[in-house]
Amino acid sequence: MANNLLKGKKGIIFGALNEQSIAWKVAERVVEEGASIVLTNTPVSIKFGTIQELAQKTGSIVVPADATSVDDLSALVDAAIEHFGGKFDFVLHAVGMSGNLRKGKPYQKLNYDFYAKTLDVSALSFHKLLQTLYDKDALNEWGSVVALSYIAADRVMPGYNDMADAKAVLQAIARNFGYLYGRKCHVRVNTVSQSPTATTAGQGIAGMDKMLAFADETSPLGNASALDCADYVVTLFSDLTRKVTMQNLYNDGGFSSVLPYPEMKE
Ligand SMILES: NC(=O)c1ccc[n+]([C@@H]2O[C@H](COP(=O)([O-])OP(=O)(O)OC[C@H]3O[C@@H](n4cnc5c(N)ncnc54)[C@H](O)[C@@H]3O)[C@@H](O)[C@H]2O)c1
Repeated sequence: MANNLLKGKKGIIFGALNEQSIAWKVAERVVEEGASIVLTNTPVSIKFGTIQELAQKTGSIVVPADATSVDDLSALVDAAIEHFGGKFDFVLHAVGMSGNLRKGKPYQKLNYDFYAKTLDVSALSFHKLLQTLYDKDALNEWGSVVALSYIAADRVMPGYNDMADAKAVLQAIARNFGYLYGRKCHVRVNTVSQSPTATTAGQGIAGMDKMLAFADETSPLGNASALDCADYVVTLFSDLTRKVTMQNLYNDGGFSSVLPYPEMKE
């Protein structure tokens, strides 16, 4: 169901690894709504994932970039400006990785090199991206930048490990940069706190299957899928949400407002 909500808009989508990726669904949906996109991911994810298939499907180009490298981000933004023939309108940051999660190191036994990398990849990369866009004046007035977060940034969920800290920083960056970018040229910056979703990154989380089922049962509307997330992100890139900024927005079927207790299900 396309409504031309993004007709003529242009943007960069980070984080499409394979068909399960939330960014994959966002890329498909924004193009259905009339947008043109540049896709990006790390060289290794481009090699081992299926992003080229998505590029073909959406008529887009793929520009490799490590989101922790300011040089790579600078080259990516330059490439996007060249490709689009000028400034663009939106960016999706769908980037996350934790070595501690991957290696099964719990929060009270973190490896600090991994911890620093988690924060750099999953949170500081968002600041680096925003600073690069801001310095280059790359976004049109009323542009929109969205990053993906998770409720473990706000409430304790030990299995999410150091990613919880990274998401808390990510949300703070959206607020702080959103203030400056709004003042500069009415660009809005938000995070979307998404339901647990079965993706490659999602599968790395301890107890993910149980969490998926628990969240689905607890949420009055059930879990939001990757496609539901893509639909929501379309609205945030559209002109219908021009005054929404510096927010952490829950796309979670209502989960975040429920206090679960035994035998609550009607
Ligand atoms: N899956 C979930 O349950 C869930 C819930 C809420 C939020 N999120 C967030 O959604 C985002 C997308 O994750 P996903 O679930 O679609 O999984 P995914 O594994 O499909 O996507 C994660 C992406 O991050 C990319 N990435 C990792 N390191 C990078 C780097 N240095 N530079 C550039 N890209 C890098 C990977 O290549 C991959 O494409 C992440 O921020 C994740 O934390 C996921």
